[in-house]
Amino acid sequence: MHPQFHQQVVWITGASSGIGAAMARAFSMAGAFVILSARRRQALESVAASLPNEAMVLPLDLTDQSAIGPAAEQALAWRGRVDVLVNNAGVSQRSETQHTKQETARRLMEVNFFGATALTAAVLPAMLSKGQGHIVNMTSVAAYVAAPERAYYSASKHALRAWSNTLRAELGGSGVHVTMVCPGFVSTDISKKALDGEGIPIGRPDPQVSGGLTAEEVALQVLPALRGRKREVRIGGVEIMAIYWQRFCPWIVAWVIPDCVPEADSGMLWGVRGALRAVWGLPAPKRLSREQAAAQPELIKR
Ligand SMILES: NC(=O)c1ccc[n+]([C@@H]2O[C@H](COP(=O)([O-])OP(=O)(O)OC[C@H]3O[C@@H](n4cnc5c(N)ncnc54)[C@H](OP(=O)(O)O)[C@@H]3O)[C@@H](O)[C@H]2O)c1
Repeated sequence: MHPQFHQQVVWITGASSGIGAAMARAFSMAGAFVILSARRRQALESVAASLPNEAMVLPLDLTDQSAIGPAAEQALAWRGRVDVLVNNAGVSQRSETQHTKQETARRLMEVNFFGATALTAAVLPAMLSKGQGHIVNMTSVAAYVAAPERAYYSASKHALRAWSNTLRAELGGSGVHVTMVCPGFVSTDISKKALDGEGIPIGRPDPQVSGGLTAEEVALQVLPALRGRKREVRIGGVEIMAIYWQRFCPWIVAWVIPDCVPEADSGMLWGVRGALRAVWGLPAPKRLSREQAAAQPELIKR
């Protein structure tokens, strides 16, 4: 199906479930040798057992910076190279900033941002010496649009987007390509495993995430994008529109995103705002009394 991935070595983080596991299957079906990383060895082994081609299970906790160098050495030693690195591992968040411990904030940044940058730094010299390679970074609509209760998740994905763009600019002409994958809602356990302020998984899924694309549908779109060496691929439903709104009419986003709205808003405005928030996976906003709205005009500015 994708001959260019035949016998390529593809290292995927977050391969124990969701999008990572689906991409492992897609690459393996295309003839790639896949290296599967995440923390849960057993889950990785069951993904490996389901693949049609040879795979390596390489457990790795991305919050452990000291484990990254040795893991990269093992990955490179397996077949003498890594052709494609997919920085897919990620963890989400559902907690207001004022109730989020710094320890939790750092964990989100470690997995979603520094995990990807450190792993890339570890394999990049080998790719550059061969004059070929592909770095794939999994971002999100949250890399463009920041929403309440996801401050550090959004910050980590914004950072990953900026870093991907810089890396691509620096690597121009080297033979190493950088692609950013930007999904909307994908039906995985990401929201169930999202961390509260204390760093504990919230344990309940978001209906919008559950109703999103399947991980397999995402994987099916990622492989052709990589074959075409696309800079960026956005995959999802109407929620992807938020990226364009943020860019071309940011006032719509500024109107929809705040959690509080004045009580005086008409029924129709309330309905429109509620519908747009639902599309982005946000709960209905809280109504502010006339006095509260007057005291916090920045929350309701149009
Ligand atoms: N699902 C969506 O709606 C959606 C939308 C936009 C972007 N994304 C992004 O897509 C990526 C994959 O998420 P998913 O939806 O497939 O969710 P998922 O099924 O929860 O996958 C997350 C993966 O990351 C791994 N992981 C978490 N913490 C880790 C750590 N400390 N070290 C190493 N691996 C770790 C998990 O494995 P272990 O628990 O075994 O470590 C798991 O394999 C993430 O970057 C996410 O931000 C998802």
